[in-house]
Amino acid sequence: MTTDDLLFNSSRSIEKEDSVSTKSLHGLFLVGLTGGASIALSIICYPFVSPALRKVCLPYVPATNIQIQNVLSVIKGRKGKLVDLGSGDGRIVMNTAKAGFESVGVELNFWLVLYSRFVAMKSKIQPAPKFVRTDLWKYHLKPFSNVIIFGVEEMMCDLEKKFITELSDETVIVACRFPLPNLEPYLIIGTGIDRVWAYKICKTKS
Ligand SMILES: C[S@@+](CC[C@H](N)C(=O)[O-])C[C@H]1O[C@@H](n2cnc3c(N)ncnc32)[C@H](O)[C@@H]1O
Repeated sequence: MTTDDLLFNSSRSIEKEDSVSTKSLHGLFLVGLTGGASIALSIICYPFVSPALRKVCLPYVPATNIQIQNVLSVIKGRKGKLVDLGSGDGRIVMNTAKAGFESVGVELNFWLVLYSRFVAMKSKIQPAPKFVRTDLWKYHLKPFSNVIIFGVEEMMCDLEKKFITELSDETVIVACRFPLPNLEPYLIIGTGIDRVWAYKICKTKS
């Protein structure tokens, strides 16, 4: 083998090494990119999936327009503080605030709270709707004279106990899609998935 051959071979092996290291850099970049994207996706999706891991699974299902109209019909003529327990994207809170209520949405999902606050800020509705990121079971209901809940059947019994313990006389509760198990509704509006039941707290005995 001549000196020229040796030089030629060594320069080819350097070229090969360069191309291998460029390829592995591309590979590393792709691994980092897909890894980062999956972590970001998991962070975004987790709040939507996590209700399934709780004792009572209350998933995000937005109220239909008819359901919202039914809720508004029940509380028509009333005023004061209103809370939507599990406020989702804030549509009930926004619509009731437009109707003049001091509306508060209680929601666990970080992204839905962020979205609701953004929409509320952009809409400039007065009185300004508020959104609290917390667990509805830990949220105290005494200040409210109107309560809206679009829940699931498994939670209604415990929720009814919470209402009876915390709410004052004459407070109106509107239950969407699933009724409270023991209290007697004074009004039922709508059919199928849009049906709402209206209850009034009455603690004082006549
Ligand atoms: C059926 S959706 C109702 C959404 C909204 N009220 C509407 O009518 O469009 C129930 C909501 O409750 C929220 N949620 C579930 N568990 C919760 C909890 N423990 N505390 C607060 N919000 C909760 C879910 O993230 C979901 O957005």
